[in-house]
Amino acid sequence: MSDIILKLDHVGVRFDALKAVDDVSLRINRGERRAIIGPNGAGKTTLFNAITGVVRPTSGRIEFDDRDITQLPPHRRAACGISRTFQITNLFPSLTVRQNMELALRGLKARKFSFFGTSELTNNEYTQAERALGLSRLGSRAGALVSELSYGEQRQLEMAMALAPGPRLLLLDEPAAGLSPAERVIVTDVIRALPAEITIVLIEHDMDLVLSLVDWVTCLNNGQFLADGAPAEIRENADIQNVYLGRPRHHA
Ligand SMILES: Nc1ncnc2c1ncn2[C@@H]1O[C@H](COP(=O)(O)OP(=O)(O)O)[C@@H](O)[C@H]1O
Ligand SMILES: [Mg+2]
Repeated sequence: MSDIILKLDHVGVRFDALKAVDDVSLRINRGERRAIIGPNGAGKTTLFNAITGVVRPTSGRIEFDDRDITQLPPHRRAACGISRTFQITNLFPSLTVRQNMELALRGLKARKFSFFGTSELTNNEYTQAERALGLSRLGSRAGALVSELSYGEQRQLEMAMALAPGPRLLLLDEPAAGLSPAERVIVTDVIRALPAEITIVLIEHDMDLVLSLVDWVTCLNNGQFLADGAPAEIRENADIQNVYLGRPRHHA
């Protein structure tokens, strides 16, 4: 078993003429905390989509745990231990926190949810859900409706849903975007306290947050690798400052 859990070799994702991800190669070590930064449209979310199988790379190769997953569908990659949160909220507001956890654990869509039938979690699912809610600091909110949660708590729930299956690789797409400073502190603390054996790749614009969470930063621009380094180096990097200049720091 190598130290590298995720390996991308010359990965490209093309949408017609647009190279959303262009020849990106990456190595992520087991247990690493890595940030992916870059301006709006840099290809960060598309890179996550390529890793999770939502889009198929048009070139290159992706290995997870020394296994070629380039052609695997999303559910097979999830079964390998890859989990992610979405940049845009993906919750069911009329259901409770626990019911959303059930959907996440069973890989179901809301329309398949049995509102009046057997919607009890099995013992094993219950344990997994409780553990993930605890890690996300939502243990006391399991019975609340999602529509009653604050926006910050909703982001915590998304994290809990991604953690529920016990992933070995967790991809977080702008987990703190749109949060108040107080909510941001909670989400940052949740991420920092996640078990060391979970490898985390985080898309995030806030350099202070990145600096406090990750070991290594990769910067993309126009789909391409621009630079990488330790967070402090990255903050001083002139090329990176240039690509961010005059661009919005946050986007929907
Ligand atoms: N499904 C898609 N179809 C066509 N173009 C897409 C699709 N997804 C993303 N793009 C385009 O790919 C580029 C990269 O987008 P994205 O990966 O969302 O960037 P980021 O997350 O870094 O802001 C953008 O120009 C975006 O419009
Ligand atoms: Mg994005």
